[in-house]
Amino acid sequence: MANVIIVGAQWGDEGKGKVVDIYTEHAQNVVRYQGGNNAGHTLVVGDEKTVLHLIPSGILHQGKRCIIGNGVVLDPKVFLEEIDGLKKKGYLQDDSQLMVDGAVNIIMPYHKLIDIARERKSGAKKIGTTGRGIGPTYEDKVGRRGIRFADLLKPETFKHKVNEVLPEKNFYLEKFLGEEPLSAEAIIEEYLGYADRLRGYLGRASTCLDVAMKDGENILFEGAQGSLLDVDHGTYPYVTSSSTIAAGACTGSGVGPHCIDEVIGISKAYVTRVGEGPFPTELEDEMGERLRAAGNEFGATTGRPRRTGWLDIVALREAVRTNGLTGIALTKTDVLNDLETIKVCTAYRYREQLIEEFPQDLDILKECTPVYEEIPGWQCDINSITEYATLPQKVRDYVDRIEAWTGCPVVLVSVGPRRSETIIRTNPF
Ligand code: IMP
Repeated sequence: MANVIIVGAQWGDEGKGKVVDIYTEHAQNVVRYQGGNNAGHTLVVGDEKTVLHLIPSGILHQGKRCIIGNGVVLDPKVFLEEIDGLKKKGYLQDDSQLMVDGAVNIIMPYHKLIDIARERKSGAKKIGTTGRGIGPTYEDKVGRRGIRFADLLKPETFKHKVNEVLPEKNFYLEKFLGEEPLSAEAIIEEYLGYADRLRGYLGRASTCLDVAMKDGENILFEGAQGSLLDVDHGTYPYVTSSSTIAAGACTGSGVGPHCIDEVIGISKAYVTRVGEGPFPTELEDEMGERLRAAGNEFGATTGRPRRTGWLDIVALREAVRTNGLTGIALTKTDVLNDLETIKVCTAYRYREQLIEEFPQDLDILKECTPVYEEIPGWQCDINSITEYATLPQKVRDYVDRIEAWTGCPVVLVSVGPRRSETIIRTNPF
């Protein structure tokens, strides 16, 4: 039996969906434990592309139990649309495959409105959020005025909670953000309209996973976003509002840390970021464009072009430490196929100092410039290679260097978007 957490080791969009999809074969249970529909996991099965924002990627496998843990925030409209989309494609024929924890906090219309209006008002200081209401929903959760999934299923409780919280929201929307107030009746009507379809999915992640473990089943915890977007350990305030690092899997689903066997961090062979915030290895030149085009680096959730840059080992080492990574899955390696030379940042220069640890202080990070090592590119197509030993020596050298710099084994190398374009060196299960 093995329980494995998958996390993004960068600023999100590392290709977690594909790796989770591959590992799902070995797990009976797949769990989302934080974030909401700010995530966008793109999966390619055969020639069919599926983008999931909320439902665990394991849903594409028949018979796997997919659990949305208590740490997630859920937009019921998006959730139901995703269910309909999956059913139309022939997935999720058995509804008992999917479960939502009763303590999941619900994204309400005022959360989305506040998110968007606040960003607009912030001007140049904006975070660059996905506008899905994620931050405001987590604020209410921690502020103890959130509305939970189980509340939504009890009409009287739901009405009471909406009526209780809305005056404060409307005051803030009108007086501070200059928006129109929202009607409690309209919100109640819309959301209670979803409730009947949602009722069948109610469950409790913690107890369900406990039973699964006692039955000897495996669990795959599917992280969203990336370690550098973690609310505590990321580039605050340019972060998302949840614990994206591995520890979030325990609080976000109600399992003890001793239940976790492996933590796999997903890293692209280069780096991307969407939204604002420091990005030391960012390439704002023709090479950045080249990576964006070759890697099709446009947001799966918002369609925004992603900022691109060279692999940042300083940042990756931070992810190895904060997550306790036991392995790295290196994705989109094929995107570098054509390059003559590949640069890798192994340290930062800050004024006169050489820094090897990712600075916590954003004022320092903003001033850091990357110190690069150059690696010769392999300049050939590696997409059809299925054995690690037959990868060009230069690719293996790149992987060896990453392992040496981070002190963490590279357990998987992805060489293309399809399931089949994946080389598994060590299986964490
Ligand atoms: P929020 O999560 O919508 O509040 O956005 C906060 C920050 O996290 C912004 O910079 C977003 O672009 C970023 N972010 C949120 N979700 C993702 C994701 O799934 N991939 C990459 N970046 C994300």
